[in-house]
Amino acid sequence: METVLSGIRSTGNLHLGNYFGAVRNFVKMQNTHQCYFFIADFHSLTTHPNPASLHENVKKVLSEYLAAGLDPEKATLYIQSDVPEIPELYLLLNMISYLGELEKTANFKEKVRQNPENVNAGLLTYPVLMAADILIHRAKKVPVGKDQEQHLEMTRNFAKRFNFLYKVEYFPEPEAFNFGEELIKVPGLDGTGKMGKSEGNGIYLIDSSDEIRKKVMKAVTDAGPTTQNQEMPDAIKNLFSILRLVSQAETVKFFEEKYANCEIRYGDLKKQLAEDIIRFTSPIRERILQIYSDSEYLKKVVALGREKARASASKTLKEVREIIGFRGF
Ligand code: TRP
Repeated sequence: METVLSGIRSTGNLHLGNYFGAVRNFVKMQNTHQCYFFIADFHSLTTHPNPASLHENVKKVLSEYLAAGLDPEKATLYIQSDVPEIPELYLLLNMISYLGELEKTANFKEKVRQNPENVNAGLLTYPVLMAADILIHRAKKVPVGKDQEQHLEMTRNFAKRFNFLYKVEYFPEPEAFNFGEELIKVPGLDGTGKMGKSEGNGIYLIDSSDEIRKKVMKAVTDAGPTTQNQEMPDAIKNLFSILRLVSQAETVKFFEEKYANCEIRYGDLKKQLAEDIIRFTSPIRERILQIYSDSEYLKKVVALGREKARASASKTLKEVREIIGFRGF
């Protein structure tokens, strides 16, 4: 089975866009690939979170991914900071990464622009840590969004450079895993692009029924169609896209016909949409809350992940040390 690896940011809740996008594919991949999923809590230190919120965030993210269907028995699901082999490989890779290439990274330049008062070395070497995450399991496939493609390219460069320097064919060059057709894009509720955290237009799995109703009722619409079978503006298309994901086929058809005949009442459409989203998310929300409060279960999950991740990581690190020339006496 091919090895797939993905890092999960330790901040931010899962929204419907994540759920129908990457997460659903992660859940499926667990049956067809050897999967490593981890929460990237070391990476989060670049922004200096306080200790209590760091732990809280990791616990929340873990509970949400478990509730969404990640299976700690099938995949290796772990916390980055539980695997000391990662920072050791990071140290070793730092020796073959160059200031010039790190400074050129688009994400780094963006962070410098956003937070000029906190340009720490961890931010600069963020791509090296990410390379260590990937190379520690010698993963071949990495599902990443557009914004992470440059980091993956840098990982390939580090892998190639290591192999060249030590005249070995040790690290594979990891490629982006593209879900292609499988990747459903969920639009936001503000009539613009896709649902996303930074856009503030998201519906979260953890949202209460009332929050969901409020958000949906506030969604952007227009004055309504005036001629039969008129094309929908983007904001209305978006509502229908979400409706198609959570509602019955008859419901979708009902509102499509209403729109086509210019009889649609957006208030009715939104009410139905809100209730169907709630029907869809509330069992997941209950699972999140239940898992979150089950410390014993979380402890077991984390311990199992740590054990599996370290078994693979320590093997790689031992071989890497040997290749570099750290040999026992
Ligand atoms: N940088 C990724 C993000 O912001 C998270 C991440 C950390 C990651 N390490 C990784 C993703 C390794 C893939 C592989 O989303």
